[in-house]
Amino acid sequence: MLGNFTYCNPTKLYFGKDALDGLNEELPKHGKNVLLVYGGGSIKKNGIYDKVIAILKANGKVIHEDAGVMPNPTSEKLNEGIERAKKAKADLILAVGGGSVCDYAKAVSVSVHCGDDAWDKYFIRFDDVTCDIIPVGCVLTMVGTGSEMNGGSVITNHAQKLKIGHVFGEKVFPKFSVLNPEFTYTLPKYQMISGIYDIMSHILEQYFSGTDDNTSDYIMEGLLRSLIHSANIAVENPTDYEARSNIMWIATWALNTLVAKGKTTDWMVHMLGQAVAAHTDATHGMTLAAVSMPYYRYILPYGTEKFARYAVNVWQVKPEGKTNEQIAREGLVAMEAWMKKIGLVMNITELGAKKEMLDGMIKSTLVMDGGYKVFGEKDIRAVLEASF
Ligand code: NZQ
Ligand code: ZN
Repeated sequence: MLGNFTYCNPTKLYFGKDALDGLNEELPKHGKNVLLVYGGGSIKKNGIYDKVIAILKANGKVIHEDAGVMPNPTSEKLNEGIERAKKAKADLILAVGGGSVCDYAKAVSVSVHCGDDAWDKYFIRFDDVTCDIIPVGCVLTMVGTGSEMNGGSVITNHAQKLKIGHVFGEKVFPKFSVLNPEFTYTLPKYQMISGIYDIMSHILEQYFSGTDDNTSDYIMEGLLRSLIHSANIAVENPTDYEARSNIMWIATWALNTLVAKGKTTDWMVHMLGQAVAAHTDATHGMTLAAVSMPYYRYILPYGTEKFARYAVNVWQVKPEGKTNEQIAREGLVAMEAWMKKIGLVMNITELGAKKEMLDGMIKSTLVMDGGYKVFGEKDIRAVLEASF
């Protein structure tokens, strides 16, 4: 049964080949000081930087730059960004990049006026935002996280060996996001498929929870089928606009909060993946891929019916003459074969994890209670051990 909920998504999207023109509509709504946030330089190589700068100048903006946001942005970098935004008296933070850049921009946006240590306040204590928030806009160049249309922000603290996400409310969602599928063409294959699996994982985290008849589950099966289809095409031909645009749109749908409304969700694959990343700094989607099969095989006995439904509706497993458990297991076999086919990393060893990190990774794993089995330390250990 659908639980009670309120729903509001205030992010305005500009999608398609001309999406960047949307900046001309959005920029006049904000003051003159723009903090332009970006990563390690991909936008300078592929020309997106020059295009954005030209539009900012044409709109009379004073441009302040904050470059070098790393994948898995750190608490140190966040503190640096807060200082830069203060100095710039930023009226708008414009994030041009992937999820890391968008997440970082949101974290800066709620921290400049918070008067507290941002890491402790938002990522340890999970405090609400009560201070002024600097508006954020995004120009997305990497697809997967859904950060372009949600309030999520994930920050890593290497000293504390923690990678933590705070899901902020609608006031922190980007005011607008520019989604041009062509901007993702220059992504290395490793990043493209990592993003594809991040999308799949976001959908599965929300799907594998609950036993009720929920409209969201039907929507998610459709999203998964479209994702698998488009991913197969994009892996062969990365400049197939139809496939890349579908993948970009599915990513937004997967985590713009809509499909989670009224239903319970899991998120343990993300908790395990984030613990692995806290110790290895590995690429987000790959950490999820590397723990997924051990996790799903481990929880299958507690959610067999849903896994069987997934096998039939998403992987076209023929159910005739088989038990639910057989169907469910066949579905995971099909999923695993597809993951290998598109080139995902299937174990954490390949991501730099060492056996001596195991105890630390277990400590770094937060536990969520919406999945088919609520994990204790023994369960976390078993899944991580099987992921090496
Ligand atoms: O830094 P640059 O030089 O730009 O290179 C980036 C980076 O190395 C590169 N890249 C991005 N766009 C490119 C490109 N290279 C060539 N051409 C382009 N068009 O790709 C690399 C990865 O970028 P990153 O932003 O780190 O990837 P992603 O979008 O996967 O973001 C990962 C971060 O988002 C968090 C993750 O935990 C991780 O920290 N997540 C955020 C979520 C949210 N806000 O809701 C949810 C997710 O589950 C996730 O946890
Ligand atoms: Zn993710």
